[in-house]
Amino acid sequence: MVLTFAVMTHLPAPARRAPLLAPSLLASDLANIQATAELLATAEADWLHFDVMDGRFVPNISFGLPILEALRPHAKQPIDVHLMIERPQDYLAAFRDAGATHLTVHYEACPHLHRVVEQIKNLGCTAGVALNPATPASLLQDIAADLDLVLVMSVNPGFGGQSFIPHTLQKVAEVKELLLDSGSAALIEVDGGVSQANAAALVQAGADVLVAGSFVFKSPGGPVATLAGLRQLLRDPGPESAEK
Ligand code: DX5
Ligand code: ZN
Repeated sequence: MVLTFAVMTHLPAPARRAPLLAPSLLASDLANIQATAELLATAEADWLHFDVMDGRFVPNISFGLPILEALRPHAKQPIDVHLMIERPQDYLAAFRDAGATHLTVHYEACPHLHRVVEQIKNLGCTAGVALNPATPASLLQDIAADLDLVLVMSVNPGFGGQSFIPHTLQKVAEVKELLLDSGSAALIEVDGGVSQANAAALVQAGADVLVAGSFVFKSPGGPVATLAGLRQLLRDPGPESAEK
């Protein structure tokens, strides 16, 4: 018994999953989505984040099914569809058929969230739930074990290029604790205002997937170099960036 304890205390801590990078196509040149997908195929991009806005759940309209269908044959990575729409349950099968691998709905848009999560899984997609900045992590307590992903919004959804809300760091840590308590293996994704200034701190707080739009596509070096820089930063954050 004592020996087992001694051995266990010398075991290394379990390896952390390397964070995934998901560039948000909303900030890309939408007239050239094929070229963007081909460029990202060679980049440090794990998923392609695809923001669907309906002008009702959020005060903006972006793109939807036909653009996803056009993108799919050119995309090498899984497509991570973020549905910022009312009644997402009416469109899940259509988004799966158009090419979604990961499907995320908003907590605030789903009075019957458990049913929607089951529908997503039955379609063969991974099921994610997004929380707006004002929605507490604790509301996921009864669904956490059923989820594949929790998307923590670090801006109010609807627009790219907004400033990161600092409270998100605490929210990510709260979601992480809730997932551990529930025995859930769900990934934590963070979306909005993500850049080199906050990426390392987000990962340290528990983020597994970082979505970045403006930072990736509007940086002077372009998306490939910016994603490579982000990957490098997360491999070797250094004491300074880890505290930001
Ligand atoms: C916001 C969208 C985000 C957006 C992120 O409603 O969900 O995915 O594209 O863009 P940036 O990184 O510019 O904040
Ligand atoms: Zn998004």
